[in-house]
Amino acid sequence: MTKYPPEPYRIKMVEPIRMTTREDRERAIKKAGYNTFLLDSEDVYIDLLTDSGTSAMSDNQWSGLMQGDEAYAGSKNWHNLRDTVQKVFGYKYVVPTHQGRGAENILSKIMIKEGDYIPGNMYFTTTRAHQELAGGNFRDVIINEAHDPNSNHPFKGNVDLEKYQNLINEVGPEKIPYIAVGVTVNMAGGQPVSMENLKQVRDISKKHGIKVIFDATRCVENSYFIKEREKGYEDKSISEILKEMMSLGDGATMSGKKDPLVNIGGFLALNDKSLYQKATQLVVVYEGMPSYGGMSGRDMEAMARGIYESLDYHYIEHRVNQLQYLGDKLDEAGIPIVKPVGGHAVYLDASKFLSHIPREEFPAQTLAANIYLDSGVRCMERGAVSAGRDKDGNNIYPNLETVRLTVPRRVYTYAHLDVVADSVIKLYEKRDQLVGLRFTYEAPVLRFFTARFEPVK
Ligand code: F0G
Repeated sequence: MTKYPPEPYRIKMVEPIRMTTREDRERAIKKAGYNTFLLDSEDVYIDLLTDSGTSAMSDNQWSGLMQGDEAYAGSKNWHNLRDTVQKVFGYKYVVPTHQGRGAENILSKIMIKEGDYIPGNMYFTTTRAHQELAGGNFRDVIINEAHDPNSNHPFKGNVDLEKYQNLINEVGPEKIPYIAVGVTVNMAGGQPVSMENLKQVRDISKKHGIKVIFDATRCVENSYFIKEREKGYEDKSISEILKEMMSLGDGATMSGKKDPLVNIGGFLALNDKSLYQKATQLVVVYEGMPSYGGMSGRDMEAMARGIYESLDYHYIEHRVNQLQYLGDKLDEAGIPIVKPVGGHAVYLDASKFLSHIPREEFPAQTLAANIYLDSGVRCMERGAVSAGRDKDGNNIYPNLETVRLTVPRRVYTYAHLDVVADSVIKLYEKRDQLVGLRFTYEAPVLRFFTARFEPVK
C-alpha cells in the first residue's frame, strides 16, 4: 500500500473548471468585498470553501434520483430514508429537514427555554445561532487542547468532563436541557471525539437527567478516527463504530450535505416519542410534511443511498488520507497548520502565518482573500469574523484564527491538492507583503456569510 491510498473510484463524468488570470481574480475579489463567500463559482479554479453540499454523487445515487417518488405525502423514498437512518444510526424517530440548520432550529425550539445553558464541545456557527435565538446560552466545554493549534492530542474534540461538571454545579441540571456533542468538531479543525469520552459524557449526563444530542454531520469521519486511533476498535467496522457512538446519545441533528454524500438534505433523529411529536408539529411549519421536510423524493433517495456508501472503509480511508496528504505537504514546508490534520479540512494557523497583522485586521480573512488572488483556490475564514460579536457588541476573538482548506468528497485529485499546497507555500514566502482588512458592511447574525471588507492600507 502506498502512503496515501489511491482513489477507490473511477471518473465517469467530468465538470470543466475555468482557469483565471491574476487580473480576473483581482477584479473578482474586489467585487466580492474580499469575502470568499461572495465570489462567483465561475471565478473559482479549485473550490475548497466547504465540504457542504459539494460532494460528487455516485452512479448509484444518480440512478436513485430517477426513482424519485414525488408524492406530497408518504413517498416511498421517505420510507427508504427513514428505515436507513433507523438502521444505521439506531434512533427510533426521524424528522426530515431541508439541511442541518433546519434540524437545529427545530431541536432548539423544542428543547431550549429562555435562560437555559447548552454545553457543547466548541461552538458551530449555525448551531449556536439557533440556540441563542431560542433563548439559550452556549457554553464551551471542549478540552483545552482543542484551542491549541500545536497540540497533537489524538481526540482534540473530547468534552472536558470537569468543565461540564462545573457548569452543572454552577447553573443546576434543570437549566441544561441537553449537551450538544459534535462528532467531529468542525471549528476545532475537524477533530474527533473518542468513544471512551462519549461514554463518560453519557454517564455524567444520565446521572443528572441531561440529554446527549449529537451533531452527527461528520460522524463517519469520527468513526474512522476511532478505528485508527482508539484501542479496541481496530477490528470493528465503520458502521459498528458509528452505531455504538450513536447509542450513547438520545438523538442527533444531521446535515446530509457532508458525510451522507448529497448536495442538500438533513434530519433530526430522536428516541423520545413526546419530543418527536413536538418536532413534527414544527416541521410542518418550517420545513414541510413530516414525510419530506423540505426535500424532494429524489433527494431523500440519494441521501439514503449516500449514507450506505459513506460507511465503506475504502471510501472513508481515501477521503481522510487526501486531507493528510495536503496537511503533510504543507507541514513539511514549514507552514503553520492545526495539528493533527482533521477529517474534512486542513486548517492554516493564520495568526502565526500572518503574525504581523493584528487580530482586529482579521488575519484569516486576509489570508483567504490572498490565496484566492494567488491561485484561484477558494477557502474560508474560520476565526474572529466567523465568531461574531458578544452580547455587548464586542468582537469575539477565539484562540483559533484559521483558514480552512475544505476538501469536498470524491471531487478533487491529489494533483489538485498539489496546486493548493504550492500556492499556500508561495504565499508564505512573501507573507510580509500582505495587509489586513476592515469591515465596510456587517450583518448582525452570522456575519461571515455576507460581510464586506476593504484593505486597511
Ligand atoms: N453542524 C456542523 C458541524 C456543520 O459543519 C454545519 C455546516 C452544520 C451543522 C449546518 O448544516 O449547512 O446543512 O445547515 N457546515 C457548513 C460548513 C456550512 O461549511 O462547515 P447545514
